Amino acid sequence: MHIIDFVLTMNVLLLGSGGREHALAWKMAQSKKLSHLFIAPGNAGTNSVGTNVPIDPGNFELISQFIVEHQIQLVVIGPEAPLVSGLVDTLANRFPDLPVIGPKASGAQLEGSKAFSKAFMHRHHIPTAAYREFTADTLEEGLTYLDNLSLPIVLKADGLAAGKGVIICQDRAEAKEEFNDMLKGKFGKASEKVVIEEFLDGIEFSVFVLTDGTHYKILPVAKDYKRIGEGDTGLNTGGMGSISPVPFVDADLMKKVEQTIIQPTVAGITRDGLEYKGFIFFGLINVSGRPMVIEYNCRMGDPETQSVLPRLQNDLIDLLLATANGSLDQHSIVTDPRTVASVVMVSGGYPGAYQKGKVITGMKLFEDGMLFHAGTKLSEEGIVTDGGRVLAVTSYGTSIGDAVSKSRSRAEKISFEGAYFRRDIGFDLI
Ligand code: AMP
Ligand code: GLY
Repeated sequence: MHIIDFVLTMNVLLLGSGGREHALAWKMAQSKKLSHLFIAPGNAGTNSVGTNVPIDPGNFELISQFIVEHQIQLVVIGPEAPLVSGLVDTLANRFPDLPVIGPKASGAQLEGSKAFSKAFMHRHHIPTAAYREFTADTLEEGLTYLDNLSLPIVLKADGLAAGKGVIICQDRAEAKEEFNDMLKGKFGKASEKVVIEEFLDGIEFSVFVLTDGTHYKILPVAKDYKRIGEGDTGLNTGGMGSISPVPFVDADLMKKVEQTIIQPTVAGITRDGLEYKGFIFFGLINVSGRPMVIEYNCRMGDPETQSVLPRLQNDLIDLLLATANGSLDQHSIVTDPRTVASVVMVSGGYPGAYQKGKVITGMKLFEDGMLFHAGTKLSEEGIVTDGGRVLAVTSYGTSIGDAVSKSRSRAEKISFEGAYFRRDIGFDLI
């Protein structure tokens, strides 16, 4: 008897244009379920695994039109901004049966409002730094609170501030000045409300979960390197590299993460009636063996995704469909045991001002690794730089040292004017 393996394939629309999106596109392109992948707007790398479409993820009208015209059967939203501004709500109204990956605006508040996420954690007894929230009306109380907090002090703009809204002050007078500036509009609307919180001392790591709103699956754990300079010095960036797995996140620590953080978070989402079908990114810190939440994001991390997805052996479209239809409990995550390291190449000057349009040479395919594009585009001269973070050079290895040294030597062969990358990704874990 012949058993016919009948696989339904579908057209997928992925929104976003960073390295995270190239990694998501690369992974979905391997799925047996994929018919055609569109990426809006994408970059020079996503175009090699699908078709780029010149639509801004903030343009809900054009996205809706595209869904109809191209018979899209799955939408995956990469970045936070369209989630926070309600793209999933809009699509749910217009296309009630369309699977969409990402929370509705109410759930995206876990990232879109620090005050919301702190209150959520408080309500559901999830370990996080002690905090208070203030507005211009409660400025005086805020200053008194600052008088009584031990140093350093952490100030957070409530809303999305392009990764710049967190200020860590070593000095009380400086904290008061920053607090005042934030409430007076330093980050515009994003800092009309400010969260002041206790400083947590420990080592950070990133945990990613897919949830269908009831069940969840834990993806490979990663660590990212945010500072521009080697040895974790200098300005904060979007992320200069990542590795997965993270050696200090052992079974014991992961059990605590699952019991004290992941389970109460997903249960809290269900109990609060947040409609959440998508990724949850837990920015965690290990404080003397006790995991605590630094922040939630309502999407995958960048550049963590570039190291996490190469270790995921499941069919990603299968997992995303199960996320959308509430059947994640019927899947098990299968992980590649190898280590993966991603080294991010950036434009000279980043995270400050930088130039675009520099021709990139020396890019080639590797057997045991990937080259994920971020700020790149195709021009008449070839592939040119088009952003601060340009490429992630991702390699498999037998250890962190092995994977990082492969990525480093591959990055050395790629050039564009002003290129810079950190040579010490994973240094604290080797
Ligand atoms: P966030 O945008 O909330 O992830 O904050 C950015 C970075 O600031 C984090 O990755 C941490 O390195 C640091 N940070 C935020 N909150 C705290 C805290 N309460 N204690 C120590 N470091 C923090
Ligand atoms: N790598 C941190 C982030 O994506 O926010």
